[in-house]
Amino acid sequence: MSNHEIHAAWKYHDGTKHSYWSIREHPHLLDWANRPQPFKIYPEVEPLPLPRDVPQTGVTALSAISEPAPSSWADSVPGLPDLARLLYFSAGITKQRAYPGGEIYFRAAACTGALYEIELYVVTGDLPGLDAGVYHFNPVDVSLRLLRKGDFRRNLAQATAMEPAVAQAPATIICTGTYWRNSWKYQARTYRHFGWDNGTLLANMLAVSAASGLPAEIVLGFVDAEVNRLLDLDTRREVSLCLVPIGHTSESSLPATKEAPALGLETIPLSQHEIEYPAMLEMHDASSLASAEEVAQWRGKPPVVQCAPLAAGAVLLRRLPEEEQPKDTIEQVILRRGSTRTFDKAASITLAQLSTIFHCATRGLPADFLKPPGEQLNDLYLIVHAVQGLKPGAYFFRRDQDALELLKEGEFRAQAHHLGLEQELPADACVDIFFLADLKRILEQYGNRGYRAVQLEAGAIGGRIYLAAYAQHLGATGLTFFDDDVISFFSPHARDKSAIFLLAIGKPLKRKPQ
Ligand SMILES: Cc1cc2nc3c(=O)[nH]c(=O)nc-3n(C[C@H](O)[C@H](O)[C@H](O)COP(=O)(O)O)c2cc1C
Repeated sequence: MSNHEIHAAWKYHDGTKHSYWSIREHPHLLDWANRPQPFKIYPEVEPLPLPRDVPQTGVTALSAISEPAPSSWADSVPGLPDLARLLYFSAGITKQRAYPGGEIYFRAAACTGALYEIELYVVTGDLPGLDAGVYHFNPVDVSLRLLRKGDFRRNLAQATAMEPAVAQAPATIICTGTYWRNSWKYQARTYRHFGWDNGTLLANMLAVSAASGLPAEIVLGFVDAEVNRLLDLDTRREVSLCLVPIGHTSESSLPATKEAPALGLETIPLSQHEIEYPAMLEMHDASSLASAEEVAQWRGKPPVVQCAPLAAGAVLLRRLPEEEQPKDTIEQVILRRGSTRTFDKAASITLAQLSTIFHCATRGLPADFLKPPGEQLNDLYLIVHAVQGLKPGAYFFRRDQDALELLKEGEFRAQAHHLGLEQELPADACVDIFFLADLKRILEQYGNRGYRAVQLEAGAIGGRIYLAAYAQHLGATGLTFFDDDVISFFSPHARDKSAIFLLAIGKPLKRKPQ
């Protein structure tokens, strides 16, 4: 199916909506005995340990998130410590907790259900301390495993229609999604989670890359089959989601493309048996790009711009002055982050804290589908419960004006409880941020691939919000939602939009000493 047959994305989106009735009529019981392994293990490939004592960047989290990516005109080549820092603070194990069925290894970025379906690979030329090759990153022993020896960067560059950031990158990280690891719990909705969970991870990766002085960007335009072949993926189980070129070199002479035959490397099965959800395979197939020509054409889309006068009474966002901003480094904040499990319902945050979060998170992502930089596919809508300086109510964020327009005033904790799948978290938070998008316009412009883009962008902005909240010692959590009820709540303003993502911010409830 072609990328332009967009009924495929609508079919998937509509078919995976949550509603009050859908979760009651189709309850899903978890088969704990068949719980998937959270790691991809190549038992026969020797590990190449990455350095663990990597120097801290010393860069504050808030500036790492919000500063534009370092410009790519100067040469910047990551060394092994840079690569180790990037991989560890994106996907490394940061905490470990026992639960009745075993152990949960929590990772650097938030992930639905702590199921960690995103894998990282590196395609590199010769770097200081690392030979050219295609590697897989294993967070268990913080090491790389060599899958292919040699420089395959031209293969990758060609798959992106010679996207300059990839063609001139000394190394590119590839993020993949493993269906079963997440669909064990979330069934066919996992394809949305691919974007969300890959996005939160990318927020970390881009921030750490910026803090390391290395240019990086998200590349979503590539010939799927070629990248999957390079990584030797079994595409019924695992697929490439995006590329992140790291660094820049003026060296224009990439080596010739190389044959990439099947590797046949053994990997440990994730579960005793796996269940396949055809809706996701169809969605992936329909949003795949088949040739470099199609990639080039896809990437050349004009931006989606909207302008309207600012509503009377809109509140301008004023972030914390530089000298009052918390100075914790990006590494400290990533290590501290962990989704809030209970918010303090009696707490409030300040407008300056909220403004600082919005300032950091919505500066525009460096991504090939957002050129010129600064565009955004998702619109942000808020339910404000307890923000000093803001009336409780529903708001629309005007990114072009850095302002909040009041849509309706009122106490909406009960509604937030319902919209966030009847969980306490969105009711008890200080503010809930809903990501809504004009899917019709996005799909018309980008085809089915636009569906991947809008979910991924939401996850990445959500990931930045997490970091900006934790940098200010606040709490946050991603949430899921009743799709159509969210749209009804924010209508008529949101009438023609679709619900994409939800995140709550507040203050974690401090447990009383026993
Ligand atoms: C997109 C997204 C949606 C999430 N949805 C929920 C949710 O509906 N309810 C919940 O309690 N936690 C939710 N979480 C939090 C995850 O359960 C949490 O990230 C995971 O357990 C890993 O823990 P950590 O974030 O503390 O590292 C969500 C996280 C993300 C990234």
